[in-house]
Amino acid sequence: LDQLSSASKIKCIRFGEYEIDTWYTAPYPEEYSKNRVLYLCEFCLKYMNSEYVSVRHKLKCPAKHPPGDEIYRNDSISIFEVDGRKHPIYCQNLCLLAKLFLGSKTLYYDVEPFLFYVMTEADHRGCHFVGYFSKEKRSSAQNNVSCILTLPIHQRKGYGNLLIDFSYLLTRTEKKTGSPEKPLSDLGLVSYRNYWKLMLSYELRDQTTPLSIADISHRTGMCADDIVSAMEALDMLSRDPETDAYILRIDKQALEANIAKWEAKGYVKLNPEALVWTPFV
Ligand code: ACO
Ligand code: ZN
Repeated sequence: LDQLSSASKIKCIRFGEYEIDTWYTAPYPEEYSKNRVLYLCEFCLKYMNSEYVSVRHKLKCPAKHPPGDEIYRNDSISIFEVDGRKHPIYCQNLCLLAKLFLGSKTLYYDVEPFLFYVMTEADHRGCHFVGYFSKEKRSSAQNNVSCILTLPIHQRKGYGNLLIDFSYLLTRTEKKTGSPEKPLSDLGLVSYRNYWKLMLSYELRDQTTPLSIADISHRTGMCADDIVSAMEALDMLSRDPETDAYILRIDKQALEANIAKWEAKGYVKLNPEALVWTPFV
């Protein structure tokens, strides 16, 4: 597969009104990999060879939003749950699109075991794709996210954080804890670290009574390892030189400063009340 995709000439995709430079190759069928530009329908994610075909497609494509169930809507942001078994073509197209921005190997064709959570932003023309994450229907390893992506044109605006926050909201609704599938990409790692530190800051800022890692895990949906790594990243953990036991130091002002710095950015926030969902069984 790698050899095949390395022959790809695709340098950018036309997506809605945007032209987006690609970062990696994806195993699109050969006849689509020989052009510099690949044309995608921004709603059904169909890939096409030419502007002509894509204009024709746009005239007749009925899709104005992803398939599946809209399980979250807050102002202009929606999240659709798309079952890989019910909408295999859409999900395969989504995986191929994601691969253009993911260095590690991902799945492309075996989409049935996954659910896809697609975030869109609405205007009068439809629900425009912003990003997504995939999730195994039955994860053996407690993974609550398999692959996550924000389209480059929408990155660094807080949407990745919103998707991550949403993934943990689902996990809490399932009464579970979870963690993203490893290995994380560099961008995945910085984004998750930022999120974990932030969640821990919120949890500990208003804390007055003793709280265990298990309590924090229960309240956030984060697994214990990720909580401990966030504590380390926040310089909260040290070892008692005598007993070697862990010591936790909470600097409430530092936590407050973390939160204030993040909130000053004015990114869109998750509204847990806007979720209408029952876990997959
Ligand atoms: N450089 C430095 N810090 C970053 C970066 C970056 N490029 N991206 C995110 N962060 C950190 C920052 O603290 C950022 O806050 P700030 O922008 O206010 O400084 C914070 O994370 C939140 O960033 P968001 O804007 O919410 O994240 P974004 O929407 O850009 O999405 C994502 C992050 C999904 C990882 C995106 O970079 C992406 O799609 N990358 C390509 C695909 C990928 O690598 N996915 C993860 C693979 S691992 C896995 O799937 C489990
Ligand atoms: Zn279409």
